[in-house]
Amino acid sequence: MGLHVSTHPLAHHLTTTLRDKETGPHTFRQAARILSSLLAVEATASLPTKPVTVVTPIKEMTGAVLAQPLAVIPILRAGLSMLEPFLELFPEVAVGYVGLERDHETAEASSYYCKLPTLAGKAALVVDPMLATGGSASQAIDLVKAEGPALVRLVSVVAAPEGVARMQRDHPDVEIYCAALDEGLNDRSYIVPGLGDYGDRLYGTG
Ligand code: PRP
Ligand code: URA
Repeated sequence: MGLHVSTHPLAHHLTTTLRDKETGPHTFRQAARILSSLLAVEATASLPTKPVTVVTPIKEMTGAVLAQPLAVIPILRAGLSMLEPFLELFPEVAVGYVGLERDHETAEASSYYCKLPTLAGKAALVVDPMLATGGSASQAIDLVKAEGPALVRLVSVVAAPEGVARMQRDHPDVEIYCAALDEGLNDRSYIVPGLGDYGDRLYGTG
């Protein structure tokens, strides 16, 4: 499994905006949207293409199109903030939703919703900004893999080493793309230094 941490200066800039506790929901949502676009580009940069013949106004040539149809699966609720940028870049993408919520005491994620499109033969991109213990991502990817996609990738904003290790154990074939790899988790399983509760900051709850 590969972990890909963005080296793009804009990823660093926007992640810092998200981390700042003075950043309010409006600026947070704006930064989250732009950063998700950047991560969407990076996470799809190595997807396979296939040759097609195209006729330009000048002559016929061999072009390239994506070899597999794409599906994007946000993990509710914070993952919803990453959906729109994927839809803008890949308008034909199929969309699925997995609803998972961590228990505030145990940090164990439990599922409350799952609606997936047909995934057979598709490249499935699971999107969730926070990879903390890895429990949510691992459970969501179990559900996604049961539908038989051609490949699965995970796109996150901030990852903790504990979440990366959990993914390596449960889903070694899944490549992870993120903007930052942080120090670790605190005793409440929040990412340190992290950015706090992404869903609460995004939607002004909590
Ligand atoms: C957050 C986040 C991830 C999860 C990560 O969701 O959006 O889904 O925690 O933690 P984990 O790696 O330890 O599972 P949360 O349960 O707070 O729900 P929300 O998105 O509805 O706020
Ligand atoms: N979920 C969040 O929103 N933030 C964390 O630090 C961990 C899980």
